[in-house]
This record gives sequence, structure tokens and C-alpha cells, in this order.
Amino acid sequence: MEISKKRRSIRRFSEKKVNEEIIDKILDIIKLSPTAGNLDDFKVTVVKSREIRQDLQEVTFVDNAPVVLIFSALPEVSSKYYGKRGKELYSIQDATIACTYAMLAVEALGLVTTWVGNFDEKEVKEIIRGDSMEIPVAILPIGYPPSDLNPKEREGKIPEIKYL
Ligand SMILES: Cc1cc2nc3c(=O)[nH]c(=O)nc-3n(C[C@H](O)[C@H](O)[C@H](O)COP(=O)(O)O)c2cc1C
Repeated sequence: MEISKKRRSIRRFSEKKVNEEIIDKILDIIKLSPTAGNLDDFKVTVVKSREIRQDLQEVTFVDNAPVVLIFSALPEVSSKYYGKRGKELYSIQDATIACTYAMLAVEALGLVTTWVGNFDEKEVKEIIRGDSMEIPVAILPIGYPPSDLNPKEREGKIPEIKYL
């Protein structure tokens, strides 16, 4: 509850590096995210390379984040078991859930991020040298908050609630 209330999308980062221990902690939480049929139908790419981060910066909004995580769906894996629904829905949902777990872990560890969805799949896939089967669905640029950060409080909303 506390973490969800505190979280905001932050698009700027301090120069401070993110160490391996922090990255491992985030990956440990991602391991706990549920997937349809407990299948391994998503993939995480951890980008620390300055060169690759710069390439990503050119095609999407990741600013100067010292680490960038890319969450890809593996539709071929879920389609084997769940057919069309697995291919078109489950693997994408599973990659998305994993990204949500990571986003909250980032916040809990005192770092900041913004979910980035606005990118060209092909361009991103090429930059991260993705497998032919993977579809990048979400990107999390991760870093420490800048010192002058003063985030507004969130009001929060649910676009529509229906009670029956
Ligand atoms: C699926 C999805 C895609 C998003 N894509 C982008 C994006 O490409 N660029 C960006 O700056 N923010 C992106 N955001 C962040 C939203 O703009 C942000 O979550 C929303 O404005 C609410 O603000 P908050 O996260 O601070 O509560 C995305 C969020 C989601 C959930």
C-alpha cells in the first residue's frame, strides 16, 4: 500500500550508479511474478552498456538512466499450451506483470523509474539484439532520483468502476 501510494513516474535520474546488488534484488522480485500456467513466456534484458543505452535513448524515452530493463513477451512459448489466447494475450500479460513487479521493487529500493511503452518494437529489438521470437512490450529506465526532485502528490483514479 505504502509503495503504491508513493510511486510516481520520474523521468530524470541522478548520476549515481546502480550496483549489481540492486539489479539482482529487482530480478529476484521479477522471478516471483506469476505467469500463465507458470510458463517461461517472457524475457528480461538488462542494459548497462553505455553504448546500447545511448542507442535506446535515440529511439525511445529513457533519458540518462544508468540501467534499462526491457520486458519482452515470448508468444511462441504460451501459444504451444494456450493457442491463440496464449499467443495474443498471456505472454504479453506475463511480461507486463513482470514489469509491474519490477516497477514497485524499484520504488521500494529507493530508486525511480517510468514505464515506457512508446517505442517501435523493431527498432528496440534490433538495438538489444533480440531473438526472432521476442516482442519487446515495456521498458523501465532505472536510476536514483535527482536531488531537486519534488514530485506532486497523486490524486489517483479508476477510469470506471461498475458494481453489480
Ligand atoms: C503502458 C504504459 C505506457 C507508458 N508509456 C510511457 C512512455 O512511453 N513515455 C512516458 O514518458 N511515460 C509513459 N508512461 C507513464 C505514464 O505516463 C504515467 O504512468 C501516467 O502519466 C501516470 O503518472 P504516474 O506514473 O506518475 O502516476 C506509460 C505508462 C504505462 C502504464
